[in-house]
Amino acid sequence: AIDISQLRKLTGAITLDEGFVNTGSTTSAITFLDGEKGILRYRGYPIEVLAQNCDFLEISYLLIYGDLPNAAQAAEFRSNIREHTLIHEEMRSFYDGFPRDAHPMAILSSVVGGLSTFYQDSLDPSDPRQVEISIHRLLAKLPTIAAYSYKKSNGQPFMYPQNRLGYCENFLQMMFATPTESYEIDPDFADALRLLLIVHADHEQNCSTSTVRMVGSSNANLFASISAGICALWGPLHGGANEACVNMLEQIVADGGDVQKYIDMAKDKTNNFRLMGFGHRVYKNFDPRAKIIKASCDRLLEKLDLDDPLFEVAQRLEESALQDEYFVERKLYPNVDFYSGVIYRALGIPVQMFTVLFAIGRLPGWIAHWHEMHQSPGKRIYRPRQVYTGATERAFVPLDQRP
Ligand code: ACO
Repeated sequence: AIDISQLRKLTGAITLDEGFVNTGSTTSAITFLDGEKGILRYRGYPIEVLAQNCDFLEISYLLIYGDLPNAAQAAEFRSNIREHTLIHEEMRSFYDGFPRDAHPMAILSSVVGGLSTFYQDSLDPSDPRQVEISIHRLLAKLPTIAAYSYKKSNGQPFMYPQNRLGYCENFLQMMFATPTESYEIDPDFADALRLLLIVHADHEQNCSTSTVRMVGSSNANLFASISAGICALWGPLHGGANEACVNMLEQIVADGGDVQKYIDMAKDKTNNFRLMGFGHRVYKNFDPRAKIIKASCDRLLEKLDLDDPLFEVAQRLEESALQDEYFVERKLYPNVDFYSGVIYRALGIPVQMFTVLFAIGRLPGWIAHWHEMHQSPGKRIYRPRQVYTGATERAFVPLDQRP
C-alpha cells in the first residue's frame, strides 16, 4: 500500500508534466480505467454490466456513496430527489435576463452557480446534513434547469417536472411537451438517454472533474464547484466534442457528402483540422463506452429509419476512417462522443443541448469526486507548482523615461 503521509513530505524538485499526461493529482477509489485494455469500472463494477442492469439514479448512488443501494436505500434516494425537482419560482426570472440565442451551457453554469443564492442552507462543505441536501438538490434540479434553457431558446413556456415519471422520462417531458400538447414518451428514447447518462457518469481525473476538485479544494460550496465543472466541460476538446462532431457531419453533408475529403484534411498537418469524435487521451485501443453506445445507436437508427443524410455520412466516415492507415497507426477510433452526437440527433435533441446532456450525465461523478476529496483525511487546497520561464530581475524605468 502507498503511504500517502510519507509522499506528502517529499518536497524540493518540481516535476513538469504539461497536460498532466503521467501525473496523478490524487488517489481515488471511484473509477478504474485501463486505456490499453479498454476497461472502465465504477466502484469495481464493469461499465457493461452496470449499463445493462441499472438506472441512472442507482449509478449516481453507487458513485457518490461507494456501493449499489439496496431496495430501501434506492427508494429513499429516489424520494429525496423527487422532493427537489422544482427550482425556486423566482429563479425563473434569471432566464429573462439571458439573450434568446445564449448557449445553454452558459445558462447552465450561471443558474447552477445561482443555486447558492437561493439555497443558502446547504452551502457548508463541512456539515454532512447540508452536503446531503445540496447533493439531492443538484441531482434533482439540473434536468429542470437544463430543460428550461432549451425552452428559453425556442420561446415556449417552461414545463414543470412531473414527479410520477422516471429521471430520463421526466427530462424528455420537460424538453418536448407543451401546455397544449402532451408528449408521448417512447421507452426506447428513454432507454437510449439512460445509457448515455450512465456511460458519461464518471471518467476519473478528466478536465471538468479535476476542475471540480480544484475549486472544491478551497472549500467553495458544491454549487459553485459544479458550476466551474460545467464551464470546463463546455470546451470542444472535452464535452463540446459531440456538438462539434455533429456540426462537422452537417458540414460534410452540405459539402456533398465527400467523407474522404475530410479524412484527408484531418491527415494534413499543414492545417489544424481534426476529425471530431475520433481519438482519446486515455483509450488507445477502443473506448468501452463507445462500444455500448454504438450498439444503442445502431438499434435506434434501425427502428426510426429516419430520412436524414447525416446518419449515412456518419456511417461512411466511421468505416473509411477505421480502414485508413493514418487513423489505424495512431490508434484513433470513434470515441463516445461520435455516437452520442448521432443518438441525440435521432432523439430530436438540438445540437446546442448535447453538452448539457453530458453535464447531466457527469454530475454524479463530479459530486462523488468533490465528496471523496472532502472526506479524505489529509485534504489540502490544490496548489500546483510551475517552472518559471520569464525574465530574471529587471530594473524599473519610470513611465516618462520608457522608450
Ligand atoms: N483527427 C486527426 N488526427 C488526430 C485526431 C483527430 N481527431 N486526434 C489525434 N490526432 C493525431 C494528432 O495530430 C497526432 O498526430 P501526430 O502524432 O502525427 O502529431 C496524434 O494523433 C496524437 O494526437 P494527440 O493530440 O497527441 O492526442 P491527445 O491524447 O493529446 O488528444 C484528443 C486526444 C484531444 C481527444 C484528440 O484525439 C482530439 O482532438 N480528438 C478530436 C476531439 C474529440 O473528439 N474530443 C472528445 C474526446 S472524448 C471526451 O472528452 C469524452
